[in-house]
Amino acid sequence: MPDAAFQIRLASDDDRLPLAVIFAAVAEERDGIATEPPVDLEARAASWTLDGTLVAVDGGEIIGSLHVDASQHGFGEIGMAVSREWRGRGVGSALLAAAIEWARERNLHKLSLSVFAHNAAAIALYRKFGFVEEGRRVKHYRRASGELWDAIEMGLLL
Ligand SMILES: CC(C)(COP(=O)(O)OP(=O)(O)OC[C@H]1O[C@@H](n2cnc3c(N)ncnc32)[C@H](O)[C@@H]1OP(=O)(O)O)[C@@H](O)C(=O)NCCC(=O)NCCS
Repeated sequence: MPDAAFQIRLASDDDRLPLAVIFAAVAEERDGIATEPPVDLEARAASWTLDGTLVAVDGGEIIGSLHVDASQHGFGEIGMAVSREWRGRGVGSALLAAAIEWARERNLHKLSLSVFAHNAAAIALYRKFGFVEEGRRVKHYRRASGELWDAIEMGLLL
């Protein structure tokens, strides 16, 4: 069941540092997103592209975010993360639903993303919203450990 306590809104300038902090914490997990530690918080905060960023907020605290990188060719590339303690409570679903709405308003015709092949939670979330698998990039990402990880490309026509 969705947790009614949190809300989704567009990101603003004040969100830069908390966005970077969550991103760095998820990078520390070395599992869901491509970036691995160390993350330079100040640099990440300064360079964050706010346009196309949605945040999930619980009582003023950012608990998740999603960025749509809108290309000039009509598709938008998604990246997202939810704080570990908030996962499995509907935050990712709420962010993705809002992103789909945002993308439609922007007249994008498609959303796409890349997800590690082992990331069952993310793949289930994307499938739930109708994303389909479009391909697999074999041994695409070299990790700090030296492992080479496959990525699944997924897309949703809007
Ligand atoms: C992927 C991620 C964003 C999902 O966010 P979330 O808030 O946990 O997602 P939700 O609670 O809305 O769950 C959405 C769906 O995912 C599926 N799901 C959630 N957790 C799951 C798990 N551990 N295993 C399998 N499926 C899972 C369910 O189908 C769920 O839908 P349902 O509740 O209607 O059954 C979150 O796990 C995360 O931030 N992970 C680390 C970063 C990451 O992997 N980002 C994505 C990179 S491509």
